[in-house]
Amino acid sequence: MAINVVILAAGQGKRMHSSLPKVLQPLAGKPLVDHVIAAARALSPARICIIYGHGGEQVPQTLRSDDLVFARQEPQLGTGHALMQALPHLDSGHDTLVLYGDVPLLSAQTLSALIKGKSGTLRILTAELADPHGYGRIVRNAKKSITGIVEEKDATARQRRIREINTGIMLLPGKRLQTWLAKLSNRNAQGEYYLTDVVALAVKDRVKIESCAAQDDREILGVNSKQQLAQLERIYQQWTANRLLDAGVTLADPSRLDVRGELHCGRDVRIDVNCVFEGQVEISDGAEIGANCVIRNTKIGAATLVAPFSSIDGAEIGENCRIGPYARIRPDTRLDSEVHIGNFVEVKASSVGCGSKANHLSYVGDSSVGRDVNIGAGTITCNYDGAYKHRTIIEDGVHIGSDVQLVAPVTIGKGTTVAAGTTIWKDTAQGGLVLNAKTQHQRPEWQRPRKKVKGDK
Ligand code: UD1
Ligand code: CA
Repeated sequence: MAINVVILAAGQGKRMHSSLPKVLQPLAGKPLVDHVIAAARALSPARICIIYGHGGEQVPQTLRSDDLVFARQEPQLGTGHALMQALPHLDSGHDTLVLYGDVPLLSAQTLSALIKGKSGTLRILTAELADPHGYGRIVRNAKKSITGIVEEKDATARQRRIREINTGIMLLPGKRLQTWLAKLSNRNAQGEYYLTDVVALAVKDRVKIESCAAQDDREILGVNSKQQLAQLERIYQQWTANRLLDAGVTLADPSRLDVRGELHCGRDVRIDVNCVFEGQVEISDGAEIGANCVIRNTKIGAATLVAPFSSIDGAEIGENCRIGPYARIRPDTRLDSEVHIGNFVEVKASSVGCGSKANHLSYVGDSSVGRDVNIGAGTITCNYDGAYKHRTIIEDGVHIGSDVQLVAPVTIGKGTTVAAGTTIWKDTAQGGLVLNAKTQHQRPEWQRPRKKVKGDK
């Protein structure tokens, strides 16, 4: 059954103390409301309408997408008033699901369960809380049927003792929505148009009211402060770690893992502590990630070892490679299998062939490196002339000594050996040894300068 989804996201979020609107604050690397939109999309709704207000056009500008419509609520006069702004965008033939932009952990399963069943019913996602403080309470009659929702500020002392609360998430019958919203009033403690008052209207109209609970109680948590944002981040990360563990990934410590995007792992992948994964990351069978690595938008081949403190962004890394410790791999890098990139080596926009090695203190940028190449310590590709970037081509089997500068554009021919300390600024022929003519002098009479001490003349 098709539905409309309305995401309420106009509130201010004063307690965030931030100029970024609350719903745009990041959780696991993306705006809070993006998580809500993702859960909504999983339901294949006919329409997703986002109510925005605080923070102005920043919200629609950030979220813009073909399948979203935006309605501005100005001023913000309550949750019922917020939903009124969506009416022109909704198909009244469909029921409407109301979500909050600051409740990001709701699962698609919980939402599917909430919207399942016959159309025309009012369905409310509720929860039993040990501490219901601050929430609207679900009021039931002697037969346990829901008769209303009362906000904390309007509740009697007795009602405040009710522990069943309104999460705010509800499914409203399309045929009734417009008439109910028109009947809301703001005669209450906060002078707001409460969406929750539709419950009493449903009772009057003899519309069936049902409640339903989330699969996990923590799904309904909202974000009003940076503390809550941090708490929800931990819950999200814990769930992500559990999913990886269930799929067979070995995590040295599931509480010290951060996934800000999607991480896909093959069999027997091991991940040590304090690693951060961003964007789309794929790690193949038997690969191992050492402690304190930051890896984004990267594919890592089977049995590859990424040693601690490595930073990898936008790379495709083959099988059986050894990366790091302290390697930096930047976007548009492709490493074939059995490549070694060692400590303090930076590789950018380069391809490196099978079995090649750059083990210490190098910069390889804008380069095509062939197979079985050895790049000695301290070798630098001088790719930038101050205005343009140029490419360096290092053909198969080249051996480059330590501390070599390759001034691009330049090609090192197949099998060439470049002597330590050479500056290459012209293409080399294949094979042989290339070196700069330098002479070595020794002056036996030369003395190292010495500091004067008292008494010296
Ligand atoms: C609301 C519910 C309460 C429920 C609680 C759950 C009402 C009257 N009360 O209370 O029963 O227990 O949520 O957290 O519905 N929003 C707008 N425009 C507005 C007001 C709010 O877009 O004019 C949005 C907010 O950005 C937020 C959501 O609606 O995403 C809830 O608003 P909030 O002020 O947090 O509602 P509560 O008063 O806490
Ligand atoms: Ca709230």
